[in-house]
Amino acid sequence: MKVTAARPEPSEELSGIGVVGLGYWGPNLLRTLHELRCSRRIVACDVDAQALMRVERLHRDVEVSARFDDLLEDPEIEAVVIATPASTHFTIAKQALTAGKAVLVEKPLATSFADGAELVRIARERKSVLMVGHIFEYSRPIAKVADIVRSGELGEIVHINFVRASLGLLHHDVNVVWDLATHDVSIAMRLMGGMPTAVGCQGQSHCRCGVEDVAMLTLRFPTNVIVFIYVSWLGALKTRRATIVGSKKTLLFDDVAVHDNIRLYDRVVAPNPLDGDYGKFRRSERQKEIAPARLQESRPLDMECRHFVDCVLTGSTPRTDGLSALRAVSVLEAANLSLQQRGAMVPIRPADV
Ligand SMILES: NC(=O)c1ccc[n+]([C@@H]2O[C@H](COP(=O)([O-])OP(=O)(O)OC[C@H]3O[C@@H](n4cnc5c(N)ncnc54)[C@H](O)[C@@H]3O)[C@@H](O)[C@H]2O)c1
Repeated sequence: MKVTAARPEPSEELSGIGVVGLGYWGPNLLRTLHELRCSRRIVACDVDAQALMRVERLHRDVEVSARFDDLLEDPEIEAVVIATPASTHFTIAKQALTAGKAVLVEKPLATSFADGAELVRIARERKSVLMVGHIFEYSRPIAKVADIVRSGELGEIVHINFVRASLGLLHHDVNVVWDLATHDVSIAMRLMGGMPTAVGCQGQSHCRCGVEDVAMLTLRFPTNVIVFIYVSWLGALKTRRATIVGSKKTLLFDDVAVHDNIRLYDRVVAPNPLDGDYGKFRRSERQKEIAPARLQESRPLDMECRHFVDCVLTGSTPRTDGLSALRAVSVLEAANLSLQQRGAMVPIRPADV
């Protein structure tokens, strides 16, 4: 049964869009695109027949196919959204770009710098849209955090640390660094306004041999700022936290906080109230909370998908284009090299293509 609700003007919608990969994340992209009513046709694709059946049950007006080639050969499919495992991104995105489709590929863009750079080159040569699902670039609270940092309210940035942990959702093909640290690396680069110069990374695999499920990254930025990123698939609780320490104030961002997700602390140096010899020599740095705030998230996936469709319709460059995502790949590749070298600092190459 076809949906008959009012649709936007023809110029505001695509003739067709494909969504490839309908495991955990793909159905969210599919649902969002469906709700946005941004395409006359939506074709969902997965090699898993059960995944296709689930889609058919949920969205009766979405076409399904087990063959990606069907999408590539279909002239009405202008754009393809890829939510397959990270290790397949390069091959599938390359096929789509080569077939003349615009591409939104989930993070990470690719699992090596060479592959990511090839995708960027192909998109550039064909003047095709290549966008990467760095979803936090479309998050209102993160935009607010970036505004506060840019305003200078925190003073000079001294240090940032990120914690991103949850239990479950282990991947077979890539480690927790490629999976989770991608988000924080891109947020860190946004806040710092550029790329780090070197990265060190230590990690360990507990569940699947050779696939690290817990890791700690150390990023060095040109201004000598040090950034720590702790990522784990073994966390007891879902944690998404960033602490940005400035010379004047500290900002705490807690993406899963029920009440205030952005808190600012004034740093006050005061005598330690402890008695005794030790207390006399110790001074404590108390932190006074000054501005708790809850900034409503406005469904960043809506913003991301809408932005992609707009870029395809207008031919403009996405905010999270291939080149910006290649910078994150460059950092992640160096982090994985460091993992093999037991945490040695590895220089990061600039993402020139
Ligand atoms: N932006 C985010 O916050 C976010 C969150 C979760 C996952 N992701 C990303 O989404 C992607 C998918 O992750 P997931 O957790 O959904 O993985 P998943 O393993 O649950 O699902 C992947 C799906 O792709 C299908 N698939 C594999 N190869 C295919 C092919 N050649 N053609 C068609 N279908 C194919 C599989 O059958 C499976 O259904 C990953 O890149 C991941 O990094 C992003």
